[in-house]
Amino acid sequence: MSSTNSRPAELPGKSPEDSAVIMTEIVLPSDTNALGTIFGGKVMSWIDIAGAISATRHARRAVVTASIDALHFLAPIRLGHFVHIRATVNYVSRTSMEVGVRVDSENPLTGEFTHTATAYTTFVALDDHGRPTPVPSLLLKTPNEKRRYIAAQKRRQSRVLLSEEIKKAEKSQSEDSDS
Ligand SMILES: CC(C)(COP(=O)(O)OP(=O)(O)OC[C@H]1O[C@@H](n2cnc3c(N)ncnc32)[C@H](O)[C@@H]1OP(=O)(O)O)[C@@H](O)C(=O)NCCC(=O)NCCS
Repeated sequence: MSSTNSRPAELPGKSPEDSAVIMTEIVLPSDTNALGTIFGGKVMSWIDIAGAISATRHARRAVVTASIDALHFLAPIRLGHFVHIRATVNYVSRTSMEVGVRVDSENPLTGEFTHTATAYTTFVALDDHGRPTPVPSLLLKTPNEKRRYIAAQKRRQSRVLLSEEIKKAEKSQSEDSDS
């Protein structure tokens, strides 16, 4: 199974494994709030970095963050705990890639892992002139990769639909105020 959007033949497909990223960080005092837990913005920054590295590895092009879907923090992360950030390309279209990023924390003394956040990020590859450029297709082998691809495809359809509906609503609003 691979994505089917048109792209130059000289771009061979790649598997999600080829571009997967695993980062480990530690929560430092400067990363925490008055409660001794991490700032959400710090986690968002790690998510963006891990996602960008994964997308760049897939495209071997400069990439920009186009969007980050709703991000829910499921549990706080305390000072001194380890943070594991894993990023994998879930889906590619012509020039954009959805990268799923999962964040887990690890208690350094007990080894207990806690799922902290999951985010779906979209990156767009750019050519030397800063314009969106085609990316390699995604070669899917495992059932998990195929499941993630189908879920990501649904999310993309929802994003496109929502964006079209907003444009339509804005157009009709501006026509109403002109008349
Ligand atoms: C993302 C960006 C390159 C898209 O440029 P554009 O001129 O709108 O390009 P297009 O309309 O041709 O879309 C290009 C691709 O981006 C995707 N895209 C555009 N906006 C998107 C969004 N908000 N969310 C997800 N994907 C998006 C399109 O679906 C398309 O994907 P496809 O080729 O795989 O089908 C442009 O909006 C940009 O540069 N944004 C700023 C990015 C940035 O600076 N990020 C850092 C944080 S500020």
